[in-house]
Amino acid sequence: MARVFSGIQPSGVLTIGNYLGALRHFAIKQETEETVYCIVDLHALTLPKDPDALRLQIRTLAATYLAVGIDPLKSILFVQSHVPEHAELAWLLQCMSYMGEVSRMTQFKEKAEGKESVPVGLFTYPVLQAADILLYDTNIVPVGEDQKQHIELCRDIAMRFNQRFGNVFVIPEHQIPKLGAKIMSLEDPNKKMSKSNPNPASYISLMDEPSVVKKKIIRAVTDTGCEIKDDPEHKPGVANLLTINALCSNRTIAELEALFAGKGYGDLKKDTAEVVVATLSPIQDRVKDILETTELEEALTVGAERARVIASQTLTRVKKVMGLL
Ligand code: TYM
Repeated sequence: MARVFSGIQPSGVLTIGNYLGALRHFAIKQETEETVYCIVDLHALTLPKDPDALRLQIRTLAATYLAVGIDPLKSILFVQSHVPEHAELAWLLQCMSYMGEVSRMTQFKEKAEGKESVPVGLFTYPVLQAADILLYDTNIVPVGEDQKQHIELCRDIAMRFNQRFGNVFVIPEHQIPKLGAKIMSLEDPNKKMSKSNPNPASYISLMDEPSVVKKKIIRAVTDTGCEIKDDPEHKPGVANLLTINALCSNRTIAELEALFAGKGYGDLKKDTAEVVVATLSPIQDRVKDILETTELEEALTVGAERARVIASQTLTRVKKVMGLL
């Protein structure tokens, strides 16, 4: 059995991009692999957060993991800050990482752009991410396209460490879905759909009401012409809606192209809104129910205990080979 690890930041709402690119694959993986899933709250602190809002976002993200089918008996589900080994390994790895390689991270460049003061944590963020992954002897990291560079950096750091100190870390590999690896903004289909976009019309939140989902999809930017065809280069808006539709309705893109042959963008949008609402409604109902129970806290307490058993063993190994007493 392979060990699978992935994490999501509790920073604002989750978008349908997070769901289609990552989260929906997590529940499938737990049936066949040893799965460890994390709410990476320390990563969320790299940009200013209101404490009460953050607390609520951590709980809502945990509830969302459960609502999409993560079973705390099958997967280890935990909050990053409950396992102090993450921050400790991150420091040790920072001493093995170079300014040059970390400076090349495109996500850092994007997030730091235009800011007068950039928190150091935003810069070292990918090293903490490497610690998350390496603590669990991870083989596979299921993520969306935007995380590929971070996983590659994690591999580089782990290989460098192993070269210097012996075979301490398992070298992980990213797993990026063929369809849905990069769901695009509804406002500008040449940009990634992102929860940090200040314009909520650009993304579908997992918690958006059906009427809001419909309105956003109907207003989504499409392309000139009228043919419904999967052509991301020339028709990125239409291709994005086809991808979202296919993943929510379990139909292939080719089936959708055939279905909408001779029809207009309005038909595609109406159908896409329907399948998105049908996908999100049951998740939203479960999130609301779970938030009212104590099921959540119990699952996270057990999850952190199980995670610590693995994480503390790895950290002990690392400290020993590095020469700490
Ligand atoms: P985060 O919280 O930004 O996103 C969580 C997951 O959602 C994927 N994703 C998308 N997939 C498709 N289309 C999109 N528009 C889209 N937007 C986001 C992301 O690729 C990710 O898989 N640094 C990570 C969190 C993290 C992590 C880790 C991930 C911390 N430690 C260890 C894996 C392993 C992040 O900010 O993801």
